[in-house]
Amino acid sequence: MPNLSPLFYELTGVYVTNRYIETGTYLGNGIRTVLNAGYKHIHSIELSEKWYKYNVEQYKDASSVKMHYGDSKRVLPELLKSICEPVTIYLDAHYSGTPTAFGDEETPLLEELEILKNREYDDIIIVDDCRLIGKSGVCGAGPEHPIYPTMNFDWTHITDERILGLMKDGYALLKNDLSEWSDGNSDQYILVKSPNFRKYRIYNDTKTGSGALYLDYCSVLKIFMSKLESAYEKINEGYAVVGVCTDEYLECIKGWCEEHSLQFSR
Ligand SMILES: C[S@@+](CC[C@H](N)C(=O)[O-])C[C@H]1O[C@@H](n2cnc3c(N)ncnc32)[C@H](O)[C@@H]1O
Repeated sequence: MPNLSPLFYELTGVYVTNRYIETGTYLGNGIRTVLNAGYKHIHSIELSEKWYKYNVEQYKDASSVKMHYGDSKRVLPELLKSICEPVTIYLDAHYSGTPTAFGDEETPLLEELEILKNREYDDIIIVDDCRLIGKSGVCGAGPEHPIYPTMNFDWTHITDERILGLMKDGYALLKNDLSEWSDGNSDQYILVKSPNFRKYRIYNDTKTGSGALYLDYCSVLKIFMSKLESAYEKINEGYAVVGVCTDEYLECIKGWCEEHSLQFSR
């Protein structure tokens, strides 16, 4: 369970929530990282009875921690019914090799995002293990590793496009690849609705391709512009680049589009 960075709160203008929910508890290490971060309530959902009981015992004296047993896609709607405010939620439920549970599917990530899309509140959503998105193969820390043994995975049905499609209007997807948004892994996505972000679209009106490429916002303008530069070829193949940024970036993006004879719209 990563802690979001001061920069995240400063740039997005959103507030720290009272509650933090995690799907997939396993050894309970995620809970430990946010235990003293000031959250009034920490909920964690685990499908393996063994790990659920282990964490009930491990956190029996932590009054802010509540464990929930079951499949996150079933437990989450029940839990959220009673929470009438935005939450921070960390989506990390997935099969992780023999010591862990395999539910109806390898990961209920898309179902979890669907549940959150239908929420009346604008939650801060953190998705873990995004390096697996769209891929299949072998992952894990080694055949004999006691915690994350080598295993086959198949996340080919989970794509950036599907995740973007499961975001409510006004949401942005921030990639933590520069470790600027949280102290969590660099392959985490953070979905957030921010009053400070503006949507934009860049396209080449002489090309008719229909693909869209999402350009995630990053707080360093130079790096952001180099990401834009590397998208240039795709735009010229007919892709539209869509993304969000703060007001101060808009003029730079517009200037870049003029230089490259591309269309810019908001
Ligand atoms: C990667 S581990 C979680 C690690 C933990 N979040 C941490 O930060 O240390 C994934 C866990 O999700 C659990 N899991 C798998 N499918 C699940 C589901 N549908 N609902 C809830 N938990 C699930 C597995 O049993 C496993 O313990």
